[in-house]
Amino acid sequence: MTAPGSADLVIVANRLPVDRYEMPDGSMGWRRSPGGLVSALEPVLRANDGAWIGWPGGTDEVHEPFVADGLDLVPVSLSADELEEFYEGFSNATLWPLYHDVVAKPEFHREWWESYVRVNQRFADKAAEVAAENATVWVHDYQLQLVPSMLRALRPDLRIGFYLHIPFPPTELFQQLPWRRQVLEGLLGADLIGFQLPGGAQNFIRLVRQRVGHKTHRDLVYLPDGRTVRAAAFPISIDAADFEELARSEPVQRRAAEIREALGNPTKVFLGIDRLDYTKGIYARLRAFGELIEDGHIDVSDAVFVQVATPSRERVEQYRILRDEIDRLVGRLNGDLGRIGSPAISYMHSSFPREEMAALYRAADIMVVTPLRDGMNLVAKEYVACRYDDDGALVLSEFAGAANELRQAWLINPYDINGMKAALLEAFQAPPRERSRRMKAMRKTVVEHDVKKWAAEFLDELSEVRGDHGKTVRPAKP
Ligand code: G6P
Repeated sequence: MTAPGSADLVIVANRLPVDRYEMPDGSMGWRRSPGGLVSALEPVLRANDGAWIGWPGGTDEVHEPFVADGLDLVPVSLSADELEEFYEGFSNATLWPLYHDVVAKPEFHREWWESYVRVNQRFADKAAEVAAENATVWVHDYQLQLVPSMLRALRPDLRIGFYLHIPFPPTELFQQLPWRRQVLEGLLGADLIGFQLPGGAQNFIRLVRQRVGHKTHRDLVYLPDGRTVRAAAFPISIDAADFEELARSEPVQRRAAEIREALGNPTKVFLGIDRLDYTKGIYARLRAFGELIEDGHIDVSDAVFVQVATPSRERVEQYRILRDEIDRLVGRLNGDLGRIGSPAISYMHSSFPREEMAALYRAADIMVVTPLRDGMNLVAKEYVACRYDDDGALVLSEFAGAANELRQAWLINPYDINGMKAALLEAFQAPPRERSRRMKAMRKTVVEHDVKKWAAEFLDELSEVRGDHGKTVRPAKP
């Protein structure tokens, strides 16, 4: 268990990498949540007496540090008010829409900001308590942008990295934020700030120059106290080998065949898997598919669209509105276009374990990923990792970070319904050779740049930025 001042590597993220679940004897336990981040970081955490600080979900339960699945976990609690103001409010109704090109209108409330400051301070205090002398602390995502500077004030000996998993917006949009300067200064407490794309890093550097007035040169910011901060792109990925192994496993293959069977063995299966979020472009994609049936290009007895929407942030108003809109659209499309035993859309509002996701990827001929804006989109990469047969087609939005790497996908603009229809149809009709040429190239990219490499590159770079100072993070044992 983590003793105060003992961790050489500390991960700070809004969520702990575990979920609470009921064990067979009725007592409650923790199990590791699925996700590439934890599988990438686990080996480095082990090699460095690491700890992970995060919110366990829920409210007001105060937990002591504990060990789950071999990981040292340090919980930070939120009260019911903080859940509403810090998490649902400032994080997910102010920053989330603002950073995703204002696809929904961000709300600005002073009480939400105050709660954001308070909760960020709590995370920073905890990190200051847990980190050993000269340790490395890696802070994650938009919920915790003030932690780097708060932590530096408490512990100037630490080496601090920050990674933003979502897009960093253009300066014109960011400037709407009443607390823009505080957020920029919060981030500047880090030695290295990582973004998904070079564009995000450039937006940040420009804002720091314009709004805070610091000197910058290329990807460096020069602070008056002599420190230098680097802002650069580190596109995140997935554990590709792990996904491929899962996809090749006998139970997953069997389940993929069962899924097709249960769908009535259509010629082609289209698939969308997303958190139910207005940034994901679910509405436009289902409309485009519906129109292809209406126009007579696709026959409903030939093809079906399987849409999985994982429940998310359900108490936030914009998410409730979206859920109703999708419910109505699916009902209308199935009512108008479906036949007995052949719905146009097979819609599930639920979350599935990784095995079921891998089986869905294996069962799908055309994967449809059409966000209006997305930091990266790991679903696109997971689909590619599972297609070890070099088959399957990916239709991908230009506005997902993944489009920078997966150039061989059928790239679309999700605001252009006709363009999206044309790409869906092309992917539907593409001959096997064409599909395999594209998939091979994409697989090479995904296999070569996996999440372990991403984590190692960020941590190496962080050691270099503060080469003068601090302990170096030991690499994971092979
Ligand atoms: C995105 C964010 C993460 C967040 C996740 C799930 O991927 O970048 O920071 O944890 O969504 O959202 P939730 O609000 O449930 O944590």
